[in-house]
Amino acid sequence: MLGRLGRRIRRLLANVATEAGLKGPIRRLVTLVGARTGRPIEFMALDITNTCNLRCPFCFNDFAAVGPRAFMSRQTFEKALALLPLVSGRVFFSCLFEPTIHPAFVDLLEMIPPKLQPKVFFTTNLAAPLDDEALCRLSRLRLAFINVSVDSFDPAVYPVLRRGGQLERYLSNFERLAETLAKAPNPPPLHAVTMALRPNRAEIPRLVERCARDFGVVAHEVRYAYANPFTPPEWKRENLLTSEDWLELQEACRHLPCTLCPPPAGYYAEDHAPYSTPPGEPGHEPPLATCLKVASDGRVELFPAGEFYDLQSLTNSRAFFTDRIARLRAQHT
Ligand SMILES: C[S@@+](CC[C@H](N)C(=O)[O-])C[C@H]1O[C@@H](n2cnc3c(N)ncnc32)[C@H](O)[C@@H]1O
Ligand code: SF4
Repeated sequence: MLGRLGRRIRRLLANVATEAGLKGPIRRLVTLVGARTGRPIEFMALDITNTCNLRCPFCFNDFAAVGPRAFMSRQTFEKALALLPLVSGRVFFSCLFEPTIHPAFVDLLEMIPPKLQPKVFFTTNLAAPLDDEALCRLSRLRLAFINVSVDSFDPAVYPVLRRGGQLERYLSNFERLAETLAKAPNPPPLHAVTMALRPNRAEIPRLVERCARDFGVVAHEVRYAYANPFTPPEWKRENLLTSEDWLELQEACRHLPCTLCPPPAGYYAEDHAPYSTPPGEPGHEPPLATCLKVASDGRVELFPAGEFYDLQSLTNSRAFFTDRIARLRAQHT
């Protein structure tokens, strides 16, 4: 199971690198410079939990394959924090799952030393109850940005795409977060990410405008659904956009403040099922690109080597990974 999960995560990490805001040639430059300045890890994807409060139909997680619910302990998080100075790019404080459901979500963020906070961002569905105090504490952090998933404000569409979510609570969270950030002296910027699917495609231009105007979103990504082999073919046929849909969407969003990320050519099979894997995407990282995936139970995978370690059993995790990555690099030169 680990092998399959590992392959999926690797594919995901290759894709989500764009979420971290680093594009191909820049990423390679950052990697090369990082390797020579003691920051040999390009990015680190950390999950403080292994589950979620929602079950979105497009989600790349196979919840049936996820083990019992786990929340990262403070001790494990401290060990992960020791690795942050080694990272040249971004640190995903949540990658696959929902960070706000961790009972110590804000406490953990506050444990990150202020000088390392600008490397860190998290993505949230904003569907869990969030009180004003938590939002205020978030506004004081120096994070790279806070990324909010925004798929629909339509009461008929929101619960279809964000299965298990309540639009009223989501909107209240989003409005209060935006207000709190707007009042703070040096808040993290607000980013948004929208899944482009049939049920919300007509709404997307309005959604982008509203995010910028009413919520102060400064960067908005509208993206295709990444490969997800366990999603029912009928769902894919009914929900994924065709290339014509993407062209229309591109036209409708031409002057709007968003970045459209359509699937690469050949990504979907004719009938949208099953997905095909685009050549040149996953598994084609430059050989020096090294990243770490830290799971909520402290398991760490070192990419692209495909090696697994237990963070809790490492006495000096920073020294260990510095040495291990240097050895791997030496083998490739
Ligand atoms: C896995 S979620 C984790 C954070 C949080 N649970 C959320 O949904 O915002 C991170 C981002 O990936 C997006 N996402 C989920 N499944 C996806 C898929 N199959 N393809 C592309 N993006 C996906 C979500 O919409 C979200 O913006
Ligand atoms: S909220 Fe995020 S992690 Fe949860 S099911 Fe939806 S996309 Fe997946």
